[in-house]
Amino acid sequence: MRIIVTENYDELSKKAADIVASQLILKPRSVIGFATGGTPIGMYKEIVKMYREGKFSFKDVVTFNLDEYYGLDRENPQSYYFYMMEHLFKYVDIDKNNINIPDGRAEDIEKECIEYEEKIEKAGGIDLQILGIGKNGHIGFNEPDVKFEAKTHLVRLDEDTIKANSRFFNSIEEVPTKAISMGIKTIMHTRKIVLLASGKEKAEIIEKMVNGPITPDVPASILQLHPDVTLILDREAASQL
Ligand code: GLP
Repeated sequence: MRIIVTENYDELSKKAADIVASQLILKPRSVIGFATGGTPIGMYKEIVKMYREGKFSFKDVVTFNLDEYYGLDRENPQSYYFYMMEHLFKYVDIDKNNINIPDGRAEDIEKECIEYEEKIEKAGGIDLQILGIGKNGHIGFNEPDVKFEAKTHLVRLDEDTIKANSRFFNSIEEVPTKAISMGIKTIMHTRKIVLLASGKEKAEIIEKMVNGPITPDVPASILQLHPDVTLILDREAASQL
């Protein structure tokens, strides 16, 4: 694992955006895996800024998001579809047909998951995958006790995750208890991974992910086995390394 430690969140966001930018400049037809959550918001701002400066285009880019809440439709402001529109897609020249986010309202979830995997394969696989990390070590929505061999599937969210994500909802009761998420196998098949973590509350899990045993109890620990992972951490998130 390559580890980059930045002074603060702004610097982390810029570094992450630079990696996306160089990917898009070097390969305008890239397939990018995007993540949601609070951490990548600064990165999206920087990407939009660079896009406006004419540094790259999204015209030929295909994107796949890691996950989506089960039961929320795209118009719901808490859906990850809405999030991606608000933070990135509405500002750039991406072809809407090239945006892929699991459909949380699909009637046949199993079919939706299989088709999602097929779409990734048809696009040629993911060149660059952005990840955040949950305090319990989840990536995407792959919660502890994960099956490493799982592909895109329906997951039940941990109490901790529901609590953590309730900050984006009016009340904890509104947080969906399930989600569709790329599996660990899907994530491990991506060519290059950049994981972002900011703040003191991520320090302990970052230490476990980097130095601890590879175990389903810490889903992100599997990344130790991926050949091309870069962690971008601010000083606080790196403080226990
Ligand atoms: C959610 C997302 C994850 C994300 C995590 C951490 O649960 N499904 O992809 O990494 O939250 O979020 P934050 O960056 O807000 O700490």
